[in-house]
Amino acid sequence: MTIVSESSQTDRSYPYVPRFGKIVESRMLTEQEKFYRIVMADGQPLDYKPGQFVEVSLLGIGEAPISICSSPTQGGFFELTVRKAGLVTNKMHELGTGDQVGIPGQLGNGFDAEVMKGQDVLFVAGGLGLAPARGLIRYVLDNRQDYRKVTLLIGSRRPSDLLFTEEIKEWESRPDCRTLVTVDRPDESWQGATGVITRLFRHLEIDAANCYAVIVGPPIMFKFAVLEVLARGVAENRIICSLERRMKCGLGKCGHCQIRHIYVCQDGPVFTYDEVKKLREGI
Ligand SMILES: Cc1cc2nc3c(=O)[nH]c(=O)nc-3n(C[C@H](O)[C@H](O)[C@H](O)COP(=O)(O)OP(=O)(O)OC[C@H]3O[C@@H](n4cnc5c(N)ncnc54)[C@H](O)[C@@H]3O)c2cc1C
Ligand code: FES
Repeated sequence: MTIVSESSQTDRSYPYVPRFGKIVESRMLTEQEKFYRIVMADGQPLDYKPGQFVEVSLLGIGEAPISICSSPTQGGFFELTVRKAGLVTNKMHELGTGDQVGIPGQLGNGFDAEVMKGQDVLFVAGGLGLAPARGLIRYVLDNRQDYRKVTLLIGSRRPSDLLFTEEIKEWESRPDCRTLVTVDRPDESWQGATGVITRLFRHLEIDAANCYAVIVGPPIMFKFAVLEVLARGVAENRIICSLERRMKCGLGKCGHCQIRHIYVCQDGPVFTYDEVKKLREGI
C-alpha cells in the first residue's frame, strides 16, 4: 500500500519526510563540545543561511535543535557543534564519522547578511554562542569585499572552553579583520586578555551609524553587551541576536517556543534588539 505520494516524497520543503545526514568528520572541540561535518545522504545539499538551525533527530531517542555553525560558502556540507546537555546530545556524542542522523531540513529565519552589506559588522560571541555566530563570520569573511570593518569579540569562561581555537588564530592573523579574545578565568598557559567580554569594548571605536552588532551568547552576556553597544549609539534595530528557547516540534505546531504572538522556531531564532524588547514588553 502506498501511503506517501511520489510527489510528497520528492518535495524537499515538506518537513515531515525523513531525511538523513551522514557524518563525514567529527572531533571534540572541548571537553563538552563535539564538532560534526555532515552531508545529506540523498546528495541534495541543505539549502541554508547562517543562523538557521536543524532539528537533529535520533531514532528512538528524540530530537534537539542545533544551530548550523558553518556557512554555505564553505561547500555542500553543513557543520554542527553539540554540547553535552542531556538525552539527545549525550547520545549524539557517541556518534562519529560514518554514522547517520535524521535531519528533516533547515529551520528558522537565519541572519540577514544582505542588510549588513556595505556596513561595519561587529560580532560579540560568548561561549557556545560562537557556534551560530561562526556561520555568519565565515560568510562575511568569504564575501569580505561586501562589508566594511569587521571586528570579532570572542569570550569564554576558561581557555579550555574556547571553541574553534585554530580558526580564531587564522582570524587573528588576517589584516582585514580585527579579532580580540578574552577569558574570564585564565590558566598559566593563557597569554591573552582576561575578564568578561564587555571589557574588550574599551579597545574599540564604533561608527554607530554604519555598524551592525551581532551579539550571540548567554543571556547575561547579551544583556551587558547590548548596554555597551547602545551606549556607543548603535540603533536598536542594528543590534542582532539569536534567541535560544525550549523547542519541541520546530515546525510552529506545538507552541513550546512561543513568546507572546511569535514562535521562535518559525519567526526566529534571529531577532533585532528592538523586536526582542517589544516581545518582552508585550507590545
Ligand atoms: C535555536 C536553538 C539552537 C541551539 N543550538 C545549539 C547548538 O548549536 N549547540 C548545542 O549544543 N545546543 C544548542 N541548542 C540547545 C540544545 O537544543 C539543547 O541543549 C538540547 O535540546 C538538549 O537536549 P537533550 O535531549 O540533550 O537534553 P534534555 O535531556 O532535554 O535536557 C538536559 C538539560 O538541558 C536543559 N535544556 C534543554 N534544552 C535547553 C535549551 N534550549 N536551553 C536551555 N536549557 C535547555 C534541560 O532543562 C535540562 O536541564 C540550541 C537550542 C535552540 C533552541
Ligand atoms: S517548537 Fe513547536 S511551535 Fe516552535
